[in-house]
Amino acid sequence: MSKEHPPQKHVPVLLDATLARLDPQQGENYLDLTVGFGGHASQVLERTGNYTESVLVDRDEYAIQHVSSLKTKGARLMHTDFLTAARQLTEEGKAFNLILVDLGVSSPQLDQGERGFSFTRNGPLDMRMDRRQETSAADLIENASISELAQIIHDYGEEPYMNAKHIAEQIVANRPFKDTESLAAVIAASSRGRWKRIHPATRTFQALRIAVNDELGQVEALLPLLPKLLKPGGRVGVISFHSLEDRLVKRYFKDQFEAGFEAELMPLTKKPIAGATEDVHNPRSRSAKLRVAVKK
Ligand SMILES: C[S@@+](CC[C@H](N)C(=O)[O-])C[C@H]1O[C@@H](n2cnc3c(N)ncnc32)[C@H](O)[C@@H]1O
Repeated sequence: MSKEHPPQKHVPVLLDATLARLDPQQGENYLDLTVGFGGHASQVLERTGNYTESVLVDRDEYAIQHVSSLKTKGARLMHTDFLTAARQLTEEGKAFNLILVDLGVSSPQLDQGERGFSFTRNGPLDMRMDRRQETSAADLIENASISELAQIIHDYGEEPYMNAKHIAEQIVANRPFKDTESLAAVIAASSRGRWKRIHPATRTFQALRIAVNDELGQVEALLPLLPKLLKPGGRVGVISFHSLEDRLVKRYFKDQFEAGFEAELMPLTKKPIAGATEDVHNPRSRSAKLRVAVKK
């Protein structure tokens, strides 16, 4: 870990709005599917006081270690991806009053250069949230074709297709890369036009991270399991940071609403609550969107 850049504290996004909408009550049990640094979890659990029937999940070992004090108070910790955890908890017949899914990465993950998520903190091309996973960003970059990389950069990075293809060609021509800085330098050199608001490698790094961790596949498969994991009257909140994630959540909640009598969930937020409305000083919140639903 770089001494010049100690990892920043993770500031929970949309904390007030999440607490207001989930409305935790004394005695209710809680499932946090992305516990991270426990910012939301510690506030929810303080209000419910029910540690022993609550479950905290993260696929990042560093995050799981960080919330060990909540385990000491009785919460169950699961070091696995949320889809695996949700399937296991469903099989165990567990159900919860409150569920939170706060997607994406945490500030400490981005700040640890050795995790390879960032080009401003140089490190190996890793990007795995769970370091037990086989495929890292280096493997993906080494083995993907130009068209596969272009598709990833276009779909998950939302780069215009011609830019994405050009970046992919340059990546393939210059691979292998020794670290995140050298990859970012090639992307910057291959970028057309002047830098605008963000560094030209930002979108490609986001795209590679989403692909390495199959982030959208995880969300899509998790959504239909949520009603099974909620008790009647239970509330679930999903905070997303990427338009494709939010689209999956929005569509699922809308389909539920339109299913009429067969719907298991009722959306509590017609429109998402935007992070910018609450946390003007936290740059991570700018793209955050919270949607909440209740089990019928
Ligand atoms: C935005 S942070 C959560 C922050 C947390 N709410 C807090 O207040 O500290 C997202 C966390 O979710 C984890 N994560 C992302 N996708 C995951 C998945 N599919 N399964 C399990 N954990 C995941 C990341 O490792 C990260 O720790």
